[in-house]
Amino acid sequence: MAKYLVQKSEPLVGEVEISGSKNAVLPIMAAAILTDEACELSEVPALRDVDVMCKLLRSLGSEVTEEYKYNRLNITTKQILTEEAPYELVKKMRGSILAMGPLLARTGKARIARPGGCAIGARPIELHLKGFQALGAKIVESHGYVEASADKLIGNNIYFDFPSVGATENVMMAAVLAEGVTILENVAEEPEIVDLANFLNRMGARIKGAGTDTIKIEGVSSLHGAKHSIIPDRIETGTFMIAAAITRGTVLIKNVVPDHVKPIIAKLKESGVLIDITDEGMLVKGDAQPLTSTDIKTLPYPGFPTDMQSQFMAFLATVKGSSNVIETVFENRFMHVGELNRMGANIKTEGNCAIVQGERGLQGAQVISTDLRAGAALVLAGLTAEGTTEISEIYHIERGYEKFIEKFRGLGATIIRVEE
Ligand code: UD1
Repeated sequence: MAKYLVQKSEPLVGEVEISGSKNAVLPIMAAAILTDEACELSEVPALRDVDVMCKLLRSLGSEVTEEYKYNRLNITTKQILTEEAPYELVKKMRGSILAMGPLLARTGKARIARPGGCAIGARPIELHLKGFQALGAKIVESHGYVEASADKLIGNNIYFDFPSVGATENVMMAAVLAEGVTILENVAEEPEIVDLANFLNRMGARIKGAGTDTIKIEGVSSLHGAKHSIIPDRIETGTFMIAAAITRGTVLIKNVVPDHVKPIIAKLKESGVLIDITDEGMLVKGDAQPLTSTDIKTLPYPGFPTDMQSQFMAFLATVKGSSNVIETVFENRFMHVGELNRMGANIKTEGNCAIVQGERGLQGAQVISTDLRAGAALVLAGLTAEGTTEISEIYHIERGYEKFIEKFRGLGATIIRVEE
């Protein structure tokens, strides 16, 4: 098992280039199986989760060519060989569930191992299944698998009880080939939904309204191949914004869409960080003035992203004053609190609220990366902690950040990866 050893850092200085979005590329790869023609994706991040999705697509019958050196992927699915996504792959990556909508639309059947809970919550899928049912699919569950089948999918009006990102994507991918019009209401508005809709429209789908709370889909009888470039990863962007702020450094972040990180910009500015948007990218300066506390509450987009909560909390542990962090999206997303406290932070939790007493000098310690973003938070905390921070279970981090430590090293950090 590999570990990261992180040393206390000087203020980070320099430029960093953001990779394509993990959460955008996964549904887009799944959508590629909606056609028997070739799909060409660029700006694809080289990540463990992308590898797992490649494996899943190959097991379904796709021919997948990876050109990771150029961040490109080609996917052609002349024929679906099996409609089943096995447990071995689903347990490695919950995003495997995103193959369900495209499989159902293309073959009339999808059988997927039901994803279990994970470190951050129970993570049910009933909204995905309700959506498929509303399009006319029959759902049967047995022996840990869930199967959806339909002779024909028919458009319908579907109201989502919660704007789930995955359910919006899955049902949108099923509805593009359904007969007639589908209206999805109270859907997720994340930029990754818009990127997926843009890709589907390039394939010949007729989707309007992605990025708002109502999406209208006019079903078409078939889709064709398409080329698409993946949007920059807004969570990686936010993580490097925090890297500049937490080390009181100055970092130019390139390949960003500032609109996608509005809440992070707003909250860092509130705390005293200077942020300039230029033609070159986003300049984040953490050394201009003393930084102070601020409160955050996670919400569906365009609210503050839950995927940035742990990294922001690490930052709050280093600024003057007391901050409240309220997590409303996942029920158990404070696993990093215990680890940050092992490093000398003073964070108390009460239900879904954490109170961070800031400006404690952090100390390096042995800590565990409990999930992807929690792991990123520990790396950030390690940059400001006296001595060495030893982070284990880093496979979580490598699931979702491309060249993570290389990018930090490029800004002057001392982080090494060691095999135990
Ligand atoms: C996606 C992101 C993940 C991010 C999350 C919220 C991907 C691959 N992952 O996950 O990084 O943290 O959005 O921004 O894009 N829920 C239900 N029933 C359902 C589905 C979801 O109750 O059928 C609940 C979940 O338990 C959770 C909340 O809705 O409490 C948000 O989940 P959802 O938006 O579905 O997240 P994912 O798509 O799994």
